Amino acid sequence: MFALLPDHTPERLTVIINGEAVSVVPGFTAAAAMLLHLSGATRTTAISGEGRAPYCMMGVCFDCLMEINGEPNQQGCLVIVSAGMRINAQQGNPGVQA
Ligand code: FES
Repeated sequence: MFALLPDHTPERLTVIINGEAVSVVPGFTAAAAMLLHLSGATRTTAISGEGRAPYCMMGVCFDCLMEINGEPNQQGCLVIVSAGMRINAQQGNPGVQA
């Protein structure tokens, strides 16, 4: 569904998305990395279990909630990727972390 522009930088780093090592462009957000490498939902809702995916990409809609480096409920559109980052789709309500 999404693809990089052909003149985009060749520089890459590796992140782990749902357990799979993928190559992404430095400066990408976790949400952009998910959209580029997954098709379909990146989380499910707590009540109905309906699938959602990043929408606004600017911190407003919260449809990009995901688990990043073991921390649930992270807004993926506001987190810049780093080498080795572990990004997982979030299923339902992971609860509130103290
Ligand atoms: S995509 Fe809307 S808050 Fe992240």
